[in-house]
Order: sequence, then structure tokens, then C-alpha cells
Amino acid sequence: MNLFKKENLIIAIAIMAIFSLATFCGGDKGAEGDSATAETSGDPDIAKGMELYANNGCAGCHGDSGLGDGPAGSALNPKPRDFSMTADYKQGTSADEVAASIEKGVPGTPMIGYAAISPEDRMLIAKYIVSLQK
Ligand code: HEC
Repeated sequence: MNLFKKENLIIAIAIMAIFSLATFCGGDKGAEGDSATAETSGDPDIAKGMELYANNGCAGCHGDSGLGDGPAGSALNPKPRDFSMTADYKQGTSADEVAASIEKGVPGTPMIGYAAISPEDRMLIAKYIVSLQK
């Protein structure tokens, strides 16, 4: 099987990138950039959540792809959550629990509460975060 040949991988990545860009055509420009290559499974809620995640500064700590590797996160203790690692969540991994974490933050850590984001938008971001879990 030559499925994993380098050329095929590059083509696959290019197709994904084009698909992601198409998803964002007509959207606002805030979500352009690296985050546009993330997997949204074609679900419009998740795509919107990804955009809100980018526009609300979450990526600064959690990273463009939500792996906890944002530029502002490296110096933090505890480290920003890597959203793919379900075992690391302290306040639950479901969309409802993640939405509550976004609202209230994690007390005593750099993860502040984002109560100013509307409940609808918090749920969209939560769906995006859940889509990153492994
Ligand atoms: C200043 C850096 C920073 C920013 C900005 C930030 N976070 Fe966090 N976040 C953290 C840290 C640090 C933790 C880990 C806290 C811990 O381990 O107790 C965390 C944890 C989390 C968790 C996991 C909670 C759990 O159950 O363990 C979620 C979900 C989360 N952040 C979502 C977001 C979202 C969504 C945004 C943007 C609206 C955001 N964060 C912005 C630093 C940040």
C-alpha cells in the first residue's frame, strides 16, 4: 500500500487546506490563518466554534489547534489544557461541562471565566473543543 507516500500526504493536506478555506469564504477575516486547517468535519457549528475560539484569544494560550501550545501558554503553571487529552480535563469533557468551564474558568489558575461570551457562543466553542478530543 502506498497510501502513506509523501506525495499523497502532501496532496491530502492541500485538499484539506482548500476545503477549510472554502468553509471560511464569506465568513469574517478573523479566523484566517493556521487555525483554518483544523478538522471541522463539515459541521457548521464546529466551524463557527473554531472561528469564535480564534476571535476570543483562546489560541494565545491553548494554541491554534488547541494542543495547549499557544505562545502565551508556555510560561504558565498549570499549563493550558491540550484539548485532545481527555484524561487531563478537571471539570469534565462533555460539551455542557466544557461550556461551563468556559463560563466560569478554572478557579485559581490563569484560565479565567468568559461569562461575557454569550451562552450560545460558549456552546459553539465547546463543540469545537469536544471535536478535538481523542
Ligand atoms: C491566559 C491563558 C489562557 C487563555 C487566554 C484561555 N485559557 Fe483555557 N486554560 C488555561 C489554563 C492554564 C488551563 C488549565 C487550568 C488547570 O489545569 O487547572 C485552561 C483550561 C481550559 C479548559 C479545561 C478546563 C478543565 O476542565 O480542565 C477549557 C475547556 C478551556 N481552558 C477553554 C478556554 C477557552 C474556550 C478559551 C477562550 C475563550 C480559553 N480557555 C482561554 C489558560 C488559558
